[in-house]
Amino acid sequence: MAAELIDGKEIARKKQAHIGSEVQKLKAEGITPGLAVILAGNNQASRTYVKNKQKTCDKLGMNSMLIELPESVTEQELIRKINELNESEDIHGILVQLPLPSHINEKAIIEIISPDKDVDGFHPINIGRMMTAQDAFIPCTPAGIVEMLNSIGADISGKHVVVIGRSNIVGKPAGQLFLNEDATVTYCHSKTADLKEYTKRADILVAAAGKTKLITKDHVKNGAIVIDVGMNRNEEGKLCGDVDFEAVKHKAGFITPVPGGVGPMTITMLMHNTLKAAKLSISKI
Ligand code: GUN
Repeated sequence: MAAELIDGKEIARKKQAHIGSEVQKLKAEGITPGLAVILAGNNQASRTYVKNKQKTCDKLGMNSMLIELPESVTEQELIRKINELNESEDIHGILVQLPLPSHINEKAIIEIISPDKDVDGFHPINIGRMMTAQDAFIPCTPAGIVEMLNSIGADISGKHVVVIGRSNIVGKPAGQLFLNEDATVTYCHSKTADLKEYTKRADILVAAAGKTKLITKDHVKNGAIVIDVGMNRNEEGKLCGDVDFEAVKHKAGFITPVPGGVGPMTITMLMHNTLKAAKLSISKI
């Protein structure tokens, strides 16, 4: 039996349509959600991501501002810029595209962003709020994964979720979100001995390791939900995930493709967070 495909593009389209209509309502009250994106340096992949973010803002009727800074930008200059955006009434969300040039202390920069404008959900205040299950900005990729699971009507409570990867952007917050939804969570990572022993017992398997074909059919339980967060390039330069899709699709119950799975959800949740930040700004007037 073949797995059912989780169509991230379609789920994202529906969610974006809803966000777009909420934006229109806010505009009628005189507020246009505004996202500022800081791009420092010449990372080509970052440039493409940032362009997509701006395009989506445009599509949903939001304002976007791109602040391009040279590779040589100093920490002080970045801090000054972020403080300016923190004060701006037209900007509701601030996103500093990562990675930053290597001479910049990323953690210090993230802490400068106002927690109320932290649409990435990377500020320690938002991370702490998420850990204690309070209202918070939730990192976009993990939020997108949970949104996808909700949209297929998956039960999370009581399920065993295995997360592979422990990055601050995806793995760690994804596990925490599942824990908040009453799942039993196991984290695996590059130092895990005998990965298969854990993944075989997953009802929901989240692969966010950044390693092509890490997950084969032997790693997957019959009928499991497999979420592939990988964004790798194979030998031919083609975009592919962490999961050997062709083999695993015969064993999983549900599976996300790459591309067209988690990717479109990440950008959609950024729009969701920007709308949330704009709404939050009204309650603070
Ligand atoms: N670089 C790769 N993913 C992300 C993300 O979600 N947010 C930011 N700011 N930078 C990234």
